[in-house]
Amino acid sequence: MTLIDLDQAATASVRRQVLEAMWPHLTGEYGNPSSTHALGRRAADALEDARGRIARILGVRAAQVVVTSGGTEADNLGVIGLALAAIAAGRERHIVVGAVEHEAVLAAADHLARWHGVEVTRLGVDAFGRYSAEELEALLRPGTALVAVQHANNEVGTVQPVEALVRAARAVGARVHVDAVQTAGWMPVVPAAPGGPSTTAGADARPDGVAISGHKLGAPKGVGALILPTGAPVEPLIHGGGQERDRRSGTENVAGAVGLAVALELAEAERRGRAATAGELTTAVAARRDRFVADVLASVPGATLTGHPTERLPAHASFVVPRIGGEPLLIALDERGIIASSGSACAAGRDDPSPVLLAMGHSPDEARTAIRFTGGASTTQEEWTRAATELAASARSLGVS
Ligand SMILES: Cc1ncc(COP(=O)(O)O)c(C=O)c1O
Repeated sequence: MTLIDLDQAATASVRRQVLEAMWPHLTGEYGNPSSTHALGRRAADALEDARGRIARILGVRAAQVVVTSGGTEADNLGVIGLALAAIAAGRERHIVVGAVEHEAVLAAADHLARWHGVEVTRLGVDAFGRYSAEELEALLRPGTALVAVQHANNEVGTVQPVEALVRAARAVGARVHVDAVQTAGWMPVVPAAPGGPSTTAGADARPDGVAISGHKLGAPKGVGALILPTGAPVEPLIHGGGQERDRRSGTENVAGAVGLAVALELAEAERRGRAATAGELTTAVAARRDRFVADVLASVPGATLTGHPTERLPAHASFVVPRIGGEPLLIALDERGIIASSGSACAAGRDDPSPVLLAMGHSPDEARTAIRFTGGASTTQEEWTRAATELAASARSLGVS
């Protein structure tokens, strides 16, 4: 039985070219970038080369890229580090955090509340899982230290109006952190990237922090990046030798940084190579996914698409299927060779209702029936079609007809 991986938003395999590019830095060229001998200097050069390549793809300067241990650390540094630095500079102990953020952001905000006396206000979503800039404006105070929102939701795939949100936060002088872990590789995070001169017209739409993660893109788990404006104050989370321009200590993951650079370059080249414009590939991927959605809605009684109908990640499809728990459906699909997820990977395995669907106004019972399918750019129509057929058969086997 050939396996169809429709859980690629959870993680993806390391791409061959990525591994090949990393290999020398794990073997012969294993130096510590802080060492002054030739082996160390070559490692430092490789790290700076990777940093420059990551920056080029994202449209920022190399000095803005802080290489982290993944999306979770990038989110923690963006939320905690930027908020504490803003508070130290005189801002109020108040932050606004989106209600449907990843745990990495929500738990970082909880940490600020518990250990630093920061008041955390949650920004709600509409029935499609979207934030609104007007609602954000109503929650902001003149001294709000930080706003943290995602570029797109990992569970239902809704793409947020991030530019409007950033502008609203900027208007009161708040710092802004954007979690772009799910969008990097799919759509430019450039409009959402920090770093332009503050005098340009677009500067007010630029966040302070942008988090990305390697393993969603074909790089290994355990590497990611936080993009910060040059010279922006950030309170480090990890203290030590002062690597990453004093923003993140610890001997650098040179091979990981090289892998992240190559994975980003491949994703960008594919968007440009397979299509005349970046949008075209995304549209082709979305068209295959849309047929899957139509097949599921036609063949699984009661199934409803969750998330925004159009403003969504191109390879994301998520549903609630009344009367069947997400977990039994996942097990039935797994037995038929289809890998999917009941929501975010970290919530999988528990029978808790999806907090994202609860925030969108679904009942707890309905939110327990969440199921998510996330393909990749190369998922074929045949694979999507087989998944729809197997989903309908799985639902029938569980008594939904
Ligand atoms: C939106 C979002 N943010 C952050 C993360 C955490 O990234 P990592 O797994 O690299 O720690 C994930 C991973 O699922 C995610 O989907």
